[in-house]
Amino acid sequence: QHPEVERLLQAYEVTAKLYHFLLKNTEHGKAAMEYLRSRGFTDKMIDQFQIGYAPNRWDTLVQFLEKRSFELAEMEKGGLLSARHEQGGYVDRFRDRVMFPIWNRNGKVIAFAGRIIGEGQPKYLNSPETRLFNKSRTLYNLHQAKPAIRKLGQAVLFEGYGDVIAAWEAGVQNATAGMGTALTEHQATMLKGLCDEVIICYDGDSAGQAAALKNFPILENAGLHVKVGLLNEGMDPDDFIRQHGSDRFKRQIIDGAVSTVKFKLIYLRKNHILLEEEGRIAYSREALKIIAPLSSPTEREVYLREVSSEVKVDYETLKQECNLLRQSLQ
Ligand code: CTP
Ligand code: MN
Ligand code: MN
Ligand code: MN
Ligand code: MN
Repeated sequence: QHPEVERLLQAYEVTAKLYHFLLKNTEHGKAAMEYLRSRGFTDKMIDQFQIGYAPNRWDTLVQFLEKRSFELAEMEKGGLLSARHEQGGYVDRFRDRVMFPIWNRNGKVIAFAGRIIGEGQPKYLNSPETRLFNKSRTLYNLHQAKPAIRKLGQAVLFEGYGDVIAAWEAGVQNATAGMGTALTEHQATMLKGLCDEVIICYDGDSAGQAAALKNFPILENAGLHVKVGLLNEGMDPDDFIRQHGSDRFKRQIIDGAVSTVKFKLIYLRKNHILLEEEGRIAYSREALKIIAPLSSPTEREVYLREVSSEVKVDYETLKQECNLLRQSLQ
């Protein structure tokens, strides 16, 4: 290992410990702790995920690292400090934020996500990309989730850190997340190296649903079978777990995850008014575009029958139109 990488790993490790200590054991961390409690984070979750707090000061980390003989310029390059423009010198990059360490797959801290306490912008301040941290090659919590993902042959993919943590606590230990909703080919390949199936469990808002749609081909092209956990509008997985409990989360959202085709049909239906003829026709036309390319006749029949009853058009009629569309696709 390159000595600079080695030193940076060291720095991230001690910084994570510092932030965790400040959250748990000092007056500085009190408001952050109350915020976390109000969101349902328990001591166990805070410890398991080494959650911390970066105080509302400019030099907490600067002094800490200096005392331990780290080169401040190197620490700035490594994403822990910021350079001051005019006067020169360095200041803490993260201030007054709840700190979520991000690990590589060997469990070494390589970055932080800092959440603002309450409302404000940006909601998350993340470490920049460094020699340690490549966003597009990192999956949150993978080091802890790996054994469960392998054992179950399945991973559950969330969009937020808090969702992964709540899921873990609810007993869903094959939980991971990209760095937000963006997912790369490389991350999909990493997952495929551990399992064959991914359940996408994104937020129930339109951003989450659109991101799920966008990620289907990325996961499928890596050879993964994809299912989707469905949440109601405006609900994040961690909200669901808090409101309805872990058993219902596992039963309804995880075990009840639907196929990508079903998800596309549900998504499509939201944009059409099926009470009106025009809406039913437009919906069937779009639905056929989703169903016609499916190679399995059984699958086509199952979904066609569903659409048939939704739009009140005879199954045989839809089937005919579906076959015509299939021919034109070949
Ligand atoms: N994200 C980010 N920077 C932002 C907003 C979001 O990096 N300014 C990423 C984070 O990884 C975040 C994920 O996108 O966890 C999902 O965003 P969002 O749903 O807005 O955040 P939550 O995780 O739900 O955060 P919270 O519950 O604390 O509001
Ligand atoms: Mn701890
Ligand atoms: Mn979201
Ligand atoms: Mn949330
Ligand atoms: Mn969210």
